[in-house]
Amino acid sequence: MDKELKQLKKRALEEFEKIKNNKELEELRVKYVGRNGELTKVLKQLKDLAVEEKPKIGKLANEVKVALAEKLDDLSSQLTKNARGSIVQATDLTLPGASVKTGSLHPNTIIQYELEDVFKSLGFQVLEGPDIESEYYNFEALNIPADHPARDMQDTFWLTSGEVLKTHTSAMQVRAMEKYGAPLKAIFPGRCFRYEATDASHDTTFYQLEGLMIDQDISIANLIAVMKELMKGVFGKEVKVRQRPGYFPFVEPGFELDINCLICGGKGCSVCKQTGWLELLPCGLVHPNVLKAGGLDPAKYSGFAFGLGLTRLVMMKYGIDDIRLLQSGDLRFLKQF
Ligand code: DAH
Repeated sequence: MDKELKQLKKRALEEFEKIKNNKELEELRVKYVGRNGELTKVLKQLKDLAVEEKPKIGKLANEVKVALAEKLDDLSSQLTKNARGSIVQATDLTLPGASVKTGSLHPNTIIQYELEDVFKSLGFQVLEGPDIESEYYNFEALNIPADHPARDMQDTFWLTSGEVLKTHTSAMQVRAMEKYGAPLKAIFPGRCFRYEATDASHDTTFYQLEGLMIDQDISIANLIAVMKELMKGVFGKEVKVRQRPGYFPFVEPGFELDINCLICGGKGCSVCKQTGWLELLPCGLVHPNVLKAGGLDPAKYSGFAFGLGLTRLVMMKYGIDDIRLLQSGDLRFLKQF
């Protein structure tokens, strides 16, 4: 039995040396030290030995068992280490990582943030109003009574509650006056809704950015100065502007402000329809009735207001020729920004 054990040990260790992977290691573990393994079988015969032989053979058997177990453990950790080594070798750490898909800001949001920064630097606060607005703030307080034809200028979504989806950001003017009084410098970026037939330049949803400045002795000169600053912020250069008269019930006088065409520099091109000018925004001096609605004394205060078509500006800046793309949620479009 002594000899049998020694031979078994020698044979096992020789076979162990040839192990190449974990699978082979497990097979040999089962073959030698498993429940029906060769060593286990020999150990089971120990009980049949003569009493005087038992201690000697028992000790030897135990040594063989320990030696095989240790060898198998060594081999196992050796294999794990090698596996790690080969992973490190197979990984080229200088390769760029897999790119992670991230979202990006909507072009509308990009321009809105840019404008907000310009106005904040001029001391304006940024306020937002509700999308569902009362008839009072959307029309009445802005000097547009129920029978006023100007209501037809804006095709309105009426709710059964009698409220409206705000048709313009001007709806925030009187809310802001009521809340903050005068002097007041604020802009109101926001979503507007009109009941329109849609085409490349009309959508039922679009964005405006309203501005309001009220103090003593505010004049058109202040309005133009602020607008020029705004254009410098948006287009990064000085832009020539001109005013034409325009009618809006909540301003008196009212204007349309045009900017020198940025594409051709005023020479005339297809974008400005050969006029050299681009319509930018309607504006004017706040009507005394609107100041009164906001709780301000028109004898003491005056102000200017403007309603920048944010969506229009986005289209102009990025050369987008169909307004419907902006609300489409089409990723092929959005990924370009
Ligand atoms: N709220 C007007 C519209 O959506 C635009 C507008 C015109 C705003 C003149 C103003 C303004 O603040 O002074 O048609």
